[in-house]
Amino acid sequence: MKKPVTDSKKFVPALGFHRLTPLYDWVAGCAGYGLRRWYTLTMQAQLANEQRVLDLGSGTGSLAILIKQHFPGIEISALDCDPKILSLASRKAKQAQTGIHFVRAFAERLPYPDNHFDRILSSLLFHHLTQDSKRRAAAEMLRVLKPDGQVHVMDWGRAANPVMRCLFFPVQLIDGFGNTRDNVAGRLPEFFEQAGFCEVAQQQVFNTIFGTLAFYRAAKRADSGLSLLL
Ligand SMILES: C[S@@+](CC[C@H](N)C(=O)[O-])C[C@H]1O[C@@H](n2cnc3c(N)ncnc32)[C@H](O)[C@@H]1O
Repeated sequence: MKKPVTDSKKFVPALGFHRLTPLYDWVAGCAGYGLRRWYTLTMQAQLANEQRVLDLGSGTGSLAILIKQHFPGIEISALDCDPKILSLASRKAKQAQTGIHFVRAFAERLPYPDNHFDRILSSLLFHHLTQDSKRRAAAEMLRVLKPDGQVHVMDWGRAANPVMRCLFFPVQLIDGFGNTRDNVAGRLPEFFEQAGFCEVAQQQVFNTIFGTLAFYRAAKRADSGLSLLL
């Protein structure tokens, strides 16, 4: 049977294979990077009503739904390139009675104007991207973020110990050794710095049954864009 053509650009789906996508929420829950960790990311981001927030690589929409439930006044967009996972996500959001704008696009080319968001949150997207795409996504995040805005990213980071390093191999097998190499080398902050972010820092780490999860933050300089006015 012919596979449906969804887009000319390839991407790694949530669990590495399209047919596993419906199992994603269940796996995330069992693996210990589900609700509790999305909550941690939300707390780290110091969200407030009236902000404009982007969930980048939103998957089944769990993080965006959690945010909207806690901060109904937030205007939230959830972006993912996979139409199949987006339809799961919008069904979940409807059931949860939350108003979320789901957008199908690639992180490397965001369909938003400059200086648009107060916060960008991203959970487990970056290890799906090639090194070039990681750099492009970081540059796009900087572009669409408002001056003084912040990015908060949760993704696989440098393994806390040899056991965590071994536990990470299955993730590398599924999502690709090339895509995950920079994560496990702890290089994500480098890409944010090179894109032009300031105050780049790893905030905390958690060990899970699939390896070490790292939480990063980065900010856009408050005076970004001033040079154009002067
Ligand atoms: C592991 S899932 C994470 C989903 C969700 N953020 C979470 O924490 O459960 C990674 C998601 O990134 C999406 N993705 C992969 N490459 C992408 C790209 N280049 N642009 C946008 N989304 C992408 C996949 O479709 C998938 O839904």
